[in-house]
Amino acid sequence: MQRRIGVYPGTFDPITNGHADIIRRALHVVDHLVLGVARNDAKGPLFSTDERVEIVRDEMQYLENGGAERIEVRAFDTLLMKFAESVGASIIIRGLRAVSDFEYEFKLAHMNAHLAPEIDVVCLMTSSKHSFVSSSLIREVASLGGNLEGLVPDHVLKALQKRFARP
Ligand code: COA
Repeated sequence: MQRRIGVYPGTFDPITNGHADIIRRALHVVDHLVLGVARNDAKGPLFSTDERVEIVRDEMQYLENGGAERIEVRAFDTLLMKFAESVGASIIIRGLRAVSDFEYEFKLAHMNAHLAPEIDVVCLMTSSKHSFVSSSLIREVASLGGNLEGLVPDHVLKALQKRFARP
């Protein structure tokens, strides 16, 4: 039987426990998952592409049940659908946190279907305890020294503290 390959794309600036939850659940849907770290210069990311890839890779080593062996982390700076085709994906995974995400995901999914109709988008619901988490909120709270326990992995917390350390 053919291996089902999925791409979970995002800026991951930085990866949060909400993303990690989607990644764990996406492994039930696909045989092999490519985490596509978008360069996304337009978003003015806090961490460079290489740093984000490194941080996501670090997080993947904590996946249970051999999950890490079914995951690869890659940066991309092309159209998402070109990237998905280049890795042989048939599925794009996205996380939905709230109704407010739906409109954006709906537009994205239809444009992507126009670009590559043979690749389907599968949206997974983010668990309720992570539904309010976003990377920009995480960055803002970190920059002001707020408590982020339980919202991001420990190594991400350390990376944020280092980035915002006052001289
Ligand atoms: N848990 C926590 N946060 C989540 C989440 C989850 N499960 N799912 C999404 N988010 C948050 C992210 O942290 C991010 O928050 P922020 O905007 O406050 O930083 C937000 O939701 C959306 O981010 P993300 O899922 O990373 O998407 P994005 O909008 O940054 O990037 C791409 C989306 C990479 C898929 C899109 O930019 C893309 O496809 N780029 C390639 C170019 C392209 O093909 N363009 C045409 C598209 S039709």
